[in-house]
Amino acid sequence: LPTEPFDLVIFGGTGDLAVRKLLPALYHRFVDGQIPASSRIVGVAREGLDDAGYRAQVRDAVEASVPQTVAATLDAFIGMIGYRSLDARKADGWEEFAAMVGEQPDHIRVFYLSTSPELFVDICERLGSFGLNGPRSRVVLEKPIGRDLASANAINDAVGRVFDESQTYRIDHYLGKETVQNLLALRFGNALFEPLWNSSHIDHVQITVAETVGVGHRAGYYDRAGALRDMVQNHILQLVCMVAMEPPSSLSPDAVRDEKLKVLRSLRPINSSNAGQFTVRGQYRAGAAEGQGVPGYFDELGSDQSKTETFVALKAEIGNWRWAGVPFYLRTGKRLPTRVSEIVVTFRQLPHSIFDPASGPLMPNRLTLRLQPDEGVKLWLTIKHPGPGGLRLRHVPLDMSFATAFGVQQPDAYERLILDVVRGNPTLFMRRDEVEAAWNWAGPILEAWEASGETPKPYTAGTWGPSAAVALIERDGRTWAEDA
Ligand code: BG6
Repeated sequence: LPTEPFDLVIFGGTGDLAVRKLLPALYHRFVDGQIPASSRIVGVAREGLDDAGYRAQVRDAVEASVPQTVAATLDAFIGMIGYRSLDARKADGWEEFAAMVGEQPDHIRVFYLSTSPELFVDICERLGSFGLNGPRSRVVLEKPIGRDLASANAINDAVGRVFDESQTYRIDHYLGKETVQNLLALRFGNALFEPLWNSSHIDHVQITVAETVGVGHRAGYYDRAGALRDMVQNHILQLVCMVAMEPPSSLSPDAVRDEKLKVLRSLRPINSSNAGQFTVRGQYRAGAAEGQGVPGYFDELGSDQSKTETFVALKAEIGNWRWAGVPFYLRTGKRLPTRVSEIVVTFRQLPHSIFDPASGPLMPNRLTLRLQPDEGVKLWLTIKHPGPGGLRLRHVPLDMSFATAFGVQQPDAYERLILDVVRGNPTLFMRRDEVEAAWNWAGPILEAWEASGETPKPYTAGTWGPSAAVALIERDGRTWAEDA
């Protein structure tokens, strides 16, 4: 179904995210007929470009990311796009910008802040001063919201003085990924899982978000962030919430977010007293990625004075009745051997085996949810190896690849989320209290690392992080899932 006509203004319109992700995502939705033709998309940045210059950039970006474009459709899409050169910290041009946005008062207005969080406040204040914060306006805040609890609160307070919480969409694109939403369907649409979804039946959970890329030209941003701020505080904790939350009473935005919040608030604190035991930090050195030699982090940064982690492994615990004693092993990093994001739920060992040990090992059941690539779900079961030759046990997956099962390309997370904003559905966006709870847990970890004075452990690009990450889980008699 098409949305209502809208004006979408992307601050940071020439940035990497806008060009590589947001504009191609909008193109896909346009092709599918969901964006009414009178809608407008306006890129805003400081660069002194005109409409034609920006349109040429967008055309290149769409052509680079979409294998086959239809010329007439792409022309129509490009025709919706405009550009305004503005500096959030200077008044020049804002009046003309406000007049332009005000031309279509019946449109939904979305202000997408794809900029550094330091600019969020200035931009919102200017939007407010021109009255662009009326009831049909919405603001989207890209992560990271601040760099700790205090700065996140300062941003949320300032944005909150201009936009109501109901107009504020804090985006975490992991919540737009198909498999993440499928967790809701799997958990709450089947009788099979929920009765087993607790510490009596689940041994542990692993979440791996591995990337082969390095920090490349994002080193400036990344060095101030690091893996915990860039991936764990937001994306990975959101995945933890989706796995661990209680059944919400409905899919209404607050019913879901209330349950996620309870998970975040139940995370057991990690601080100076236990960070050494529960966390491992790494930083890559030169090595290989996808068969090619690649530089180390210091080379990309242009300095060897950084303590920023490009890899983190953690053992998290959720202190509530459902999850007491079930570790959640989390790991993420740049320059790992393969690009994979996966949630692996390992059930408990059987209490007793009736089989001859010669039949083969009895492995615990495992449910693997693969977010990317090859999105899908695998449920590992023990079965009898077919044929004569006695009862030989095999551990095999019931394997559902979404692409094979449904024969469709999975939409990019941003496609769904941008249209959710236009439609006014905040279910898959973070509420302010979630961001606070996530920082409340992540902040003391960062402080503990800082206080320790230690540097992250080096690892060679193209390996699974420092060996201490393996030790973190093996100490507990478990291993990182091998299909991760
Ligand atoms: C972003 C991080 O939020 O997510 C990046 O800032 C990371 O560092 C990216 O590469 C990963 O997203 P995806 O969808 O490619 O897994």
